Amino acid sequence: MSSSGKDKYPWWKKAVFYEIYPRSFQDTNGNGVGDLKGITQRLDHLNGSKDSLGIDAIWICPFFPSPMKDFGYDITDYKAVDKLFGSLKDLKELLTEAHKRNIKVVIDLVLNHTSDQHSWFKESKSSKKSPKRDWYIWHKGRNGKKPNNWIASIDLRSAWFYDEKTKEFYLSTFSKHQPEVNWRNNELKEAMWDVVRFWLDLGVDGFRLDVVNFYYKDKEFKDNPLSFEPNPRLFQKHKYDRNQPGTHKVCKELRKMVDKYEDKVLIGEVFDARAGQCASFLGKSDDELHMVFNFHFLIRPWKAAGFHDSIAKWYRKLGDTGWATITLSNHDQPRHIGRYKKGKLTELRAKVAAMMMLTLRGTPFLYYGEEIGMMNGTIKKSQLKDPVGIRTWPLKLFGRDPERTPMQWDGTKNAGFSKGTPWLPVNPDHKTRNVKDQLSEKDSILNFYRELLRIRREHDALSVGRIEFLKKGEDDVLLYKRSIGKEVVHIALNFHHRPRIVAKKVKGKVLFSTHRKKGEKVDFSKEELKGLEATMLI
Ligand code: GLC
Repeated sequence: MSSSGKDKYPWWKKAVFYEIYPRSFQDTNGNGVGDLKGITQRLDHLNGSKDSLGIDAIWICPFFPSPMKDFGYDITDYKAVDKLFGSLKDLKELLTEAHKRNIKVVIDLVLNHTSDQHSWFKESKSSKKSPKRDWYIWHKGRNGKKPNNWIASIDLRSAWFYDEKTKEFYLSTFSKHQPEVNWRNNELKEAMWDVVRFWLDLGVDGFRLDVVNFYYKDKEFKDNPLSFEPNPRLFQKHKYDRNQPGTHKVCKELRKMVDKYEDKVLIGEVFDARAGQCASFLGKSDDELHMVFNFHFLIRPWKAAGFHDSIAKWYRKLGDTGWATITLSNHDQPRHIGRYKKGKLTELRAKVAAMMMLTLRGTPFLYYGEEIGMMNGTIKKSQLKDPVGIRTWPLKLFGRDPERTPMQWDGTKNAGFSKGTPWLPVNPDHKTRNVKDQLSEKDSILNFYRELLRIRREHDALSVGRIEFLKKGEDDVLLYKRSIGKEVVHIALNFHHRPRIVAKKVKGKVLFSTHRKKGEKVDFSKEELKGLEATMLI
């Protein structure tokens, strides 16, 4: 803290974020779908009480009016709350209660596309002469065919959809129901900025920007070149439908607007596997977004060297001014505990992953339920709700439903999530894996996360300190030093289930460990790390 009482670091650099998928967190009216009141009711789990996890910010996935073709990522009204989730009043209450507990609230802004049921799109579609025609991307086609080879990644077919009435194609790069807006149109842009101001004025602390790198498209609509990388689903390089220079202009404008308010944060979902591309959305002189996701960790197998490669590259591309985000799970990918599952070793691996995520330099984003080691649900084909359908990579699971099953609060029917019939089946293991039981089990994953978060809050070295790697995955071990001023913390993580030699001159007392007692003296020039040991020394 400075003498003025204000921390010299922006709050989001020290914060730990927690993503909430509102449909699945807590249902309060018995309709089987989570709601905003439910989030408010469960805030104590997150912060402000003695049993809290201790998180600093929540990101809530979309709760706006929507036909729910992509569960809220298809919006019909940007300035309201869908009845399913409650009302604007509920949201205000949620903001007040969250802020009382020092929890910041970040909401999801889906500005790349609307629902096909949005009044803007209906107007745009009504006639070629409609004043809103140009708010979306229309094309007459080429020689009677679709304009180009771009693909809708949810529907897995062409991204161009023919409108019989006006005899033109509209662009929709997710599903048919999510037409892309035209960011080159100033009126559209102003309408979106109006949405941004509406929520900032209401008191939200920032935004997660859905697929921010998709906003602008190539003006000439050139064909994308074919490729077998990086996403095996789509087989094309997204050279012309993503990452266009115009998007950076939009981000700069947005940043200027947000900077007029105090302490707000912009976090971009850059849908791209390249760290450099992700980092580019922070701007050359910190004039675009504050943070962006890099999903490289989400595709890494369980190997220390691989994680090191990803993080080292991420830091390199971020340079001195950029700030990293660290995340292993979200609502679009199978939960990491499932990706790294290995019989009896599963929980230990989850703890190693947790210590890594909460001690690397950058802002961690946890996904609801990971604090209790919630598994990917088993969803039968007949129960499938997600429009993505059968996904075969990286795990053979049905759609994204497995990572969206209801939060497991206790061992009662429906895990304390709902008194009605949950929209997705509750995982049967909730009887033994739930918040209530894990709070009273000393060595539970929940208590492991709680302790990690507590220590992180007490030691600035772990959030804003420097990082230096002493072992970069050799022998399947990561060893790194975090430091700030006189404070130094070493973190040693063994990704292997057998003991591993560290052989580095690192000594200290245990601050926290999977295998050792607090205060125990350790000398890693002499001692081994036990199998899947995660230890912090001070
Ligand atoms: C983002 C969201 C995903 C959604 C897609 C389209 O990737 O995270 O859930 O389906 O955008 O909005």
